[in-house]
Amino acid sequence: MKRTLVVLAHPALSTSRVNRRWREELLRYPEQIDLHELYDEYPDGQIDVRQEQQRLERYDRVILQFPLYWYSYPPLLKKWFDDVFAYGWAYGSKGEKLKGKCFGAALSIGDHAHNYRPDGGVSYTVDEIIAPFKASLRHVGAIELPHFALFGASYQASDEEVAKSASAYVRYVLGEA
Ligand SMILES: Cc1cc2nc3c(=O)[nH]c(=O)nc-3n(C[C@H](O)[C@H](O)[C@H](O)COP(=O)(O)O)c2cc1C
Repeated sequence: MKRTLVVLAHPALSTSRVNRRWREELLRYPEQIDLHELYDEYPDGQIDVRQEQQRLERYDRVILQFPLYWYSYPPLLKKWFDDVFAYGWAYGSKGEKLKGKCFGAALSIGDHAHNYRPDGGVSYTVDEIIAPFKASLRHVGAIELPHFALFGASYQASDEEVAKSASAYVRYVLGEA
């Protein structure tokens, strides 16, 4: 089986409940899953663009894992897109290094699922919220995988639900779900 790269972007993993538990589960599959932790690798926020590009070139399947912050990515993940998905490499007449690669988003979401509906408190669906991610993939010719999400990640989800989501998450990462 081919290996999957998980790019994890959580600015405060030491206080995390969900992403930390998901991370723990991923580490049980070292043969199939490579974990790359952005905040750990770049504590000063200075991304090594060439290193990131070379890493991405080695995988056909990449999952971006992050907590939803203000209906968006944590800032280092946004910077990662800005820096790494560069002209001449990711797009432009000579940039097609991400073409045909599969990308998915795995998000922990603080609020309840029912709020992420047109008639809910947030009024936007997760697919609508991650539209910039989807449009970016389209721009570079990558293939979008369905997203994976755990709602109620702030307080509502019980430890048991978080543990269950961790197993489901690994199946998602491995392409088995
Ligand atoms: C700065 C910040 C912004 C947040 N914005 C949102 C948000 O827009 N929508 C939401 O449902 N939850 C929001 N949350 C809650 C986080 O999504 C939630 O704490 C996180 O997914 C829990 O995962 P963790 O245990 O791995 O940290 C926010 C939390 C923080 C700290």
